[in-house]
Amino acid sequence: MILCCCANVNERQVAELLRQGPLSLTELQRNFPVAQQCGRCRDAVCEALRRFAAERG
Ligand code: FES
Repeated sequence: MILCCCANVNERQVAELLRQGPLSLTELQRNFPVAQQCGRCRDAVCEALRRFAAERG
């Protein structure tokens, strides 16, 4: 599922990166330019970061 249309980043790409450890939004943006253009995805990106962190335990 696409997470950020502007940067063409999907949830799988973010999940794979998060296998290395939890990230803040700023840290994620060093790897993928999400939530830096229209900004509509910002809440969804933050929710995905929380969800992936919770799944890791
Ligand atoms: S959808 Fe992510 S910045 Fe536009």
